[in-house]
Amino acid sequence: MRITITDWIHKVLENYISLGDLCIDATMGKGNDTLFLCQQTGRTGEVSAFDIQEAALKFTKEKLEKHGMTAELILDGHEHMGNYFQSETVQCIMFNLGYLPGGDHHLATKAETSIQAFEEGFSLLKPGGIMSICIYSGGDSGFEERDQVLEYLKTLDDKKYFVVRQDFPNKANHPPMPIFILKL
Ligand SMILES: C[S@@+](CC[C@H](N)C(=O)[O-])C[C@H]1O[C@@H](n2cnc3c(N)ncnc32)[C@H](O)[C@@H]1O
Repeated sequence: MRITITDWIHKVLENYISLGDLCIDATMGKGNDTLFLCQQTGRTGEVSAFDIQEAALKFTKEKLEKHGMTAELILDGHEHMGNYFQSETVQCIMFNLGYLPGGDHHLATKAETSIQAFEEGFSLLKPGGIMSICIYSGGDSGFEERDQVLEYLKTLDDKKYFVVRQDFPNKANHPPMPIFILKL
């Protein structure tokens, strides 16, 4: 049996997403999470995905077409997601921080805009909704975004948000760190 950290994140989120839900992939990349959200929400659901790179929209469109799925693909920064949805209508928002695999590493997510996007996302989430953040660090990603995001998470009111951070003690080389935030 083989399980990746992405599989693990999907397994957790499956418990919180139902057919017909509205979900957001805040970092579309190659569309793996967009496809996952489409599969969970079904034909009656709605999925929107953001990225700042045309290449990500192209990869994702092709991936969805291959699986007979559709989503709204938005070429815009996730820090503007509040412009696109009504507050408290979204069940799940996924962030997969870092750079587009095989793409320009300079076009990676940045702590400042990521944190702005989390704030926007919290207003959009329904009570009982969930946000996942997968943080990459080390290598070209460095540690700045991870450290700033972790500091930011400490400031969230524990009466409003249940914040979970996970790690993988037997994995080498700074494995990605999943965070789950439930809006209470
Ligand atoms: C690690 S990749 C995402 C991987 C993706 N979830 C997948 O399944 O392939 C991170 C993505 O975030 C995008 N990104 C960087 N800054 C962004 C921003 N401000 N808003 C939205 N996307 C951004 C990058 O272009 C990159 O495609």
